[in-house]
Amino acid sequence: MGEVYLAEHLMLHREIALKVLIPDRMNSEHVERFLREARSCSRIEHPNVVTIHDVGEENETYYIVMQYVKGKNLAEIVQTQGGPLPWRTALKILRYDASGLAAVHKQGLLHRDIKPSNIMVGDDSRVQLMDFGLVRDEAQSDLTGTGVIMGTPIFMAPEQCTGSKLDRRTDIDHIGQNDNLRQNLRRFTSFRLLKLPNL
Ligand SMILES: Nc1ncnc2c1ncn2[C@@H]1O[C@H](COP(=O)(O)OP(=O)(O)OP(=O)(O)O)[C@@H](O)[C@H]1O
Ligand SMILES: [Mg+2]
Repeated sequence: MGEVYLAEHLMLHREIALKVLIPDRMNSEHVERFLREARSCSRIEHPNVVTIHDVGEENETYYIVMQYVKGKNLAEIVQTQGGPLPWRTALKILRYDASGLAAVHKQGLLHRDIKPSNIMVGDDSRVQLMDFGLVRDEAQSDLTGTGVIMGTPIFMAPEQCTGSKLDRRTDIDHIGQNDNLRQNLRRFTSFRLLKLPNL
């Protein structure tokens, strides 16, 4: 939904990450989701969740200012590795993810899109959850806003595919798929992508 830039905060003289809502997503629903992402994430203070510093709008461009995490996302790490991570590493990442996720759930929120590209591993080995673009209050998790099922298909839990009410178990299903049990160690996800026959 956004583009993320490495930027310099000119007054603080420090690197920050700037997520900008891409211009063709400027309708009210996307703006609302973008602001919800910033507000929800900023409620969470936890070492395993990326820190939001600010959110704003300039010349009709919406942006989120975040802590810059120097490192790689988990998808990039697995790709560079060219195969499953050693199980101890995978387990360590899973533990930190679970810890960050518990802080998300403690705020009554569901992340709904935990996947390798939304997990950053810093050069200092710190693991941080990010990208709260699909976040929802748990109490409202059956409302998609548009009546559209949301998520990243290959990582979706069964209840997401059927549009049923979600709860924190959906996020827990995602971290199990992403980090350890399936994709990184055994290299398969819940679903295989099949080429659809021409209709
Ligand atoms: N704070 C950050 N520090 C460093 N890199 C970041 C940061 N936030 C995002 N990134 C990088 O940018 C990528 C995209 O960020 P994010 O997932 O928030 O955007 P997105 O628009 O939702 O992307 P996607 O649709 O691919 O999930 C991340 O996978 C990560 O590699
Ligand atoms: Mg993302």
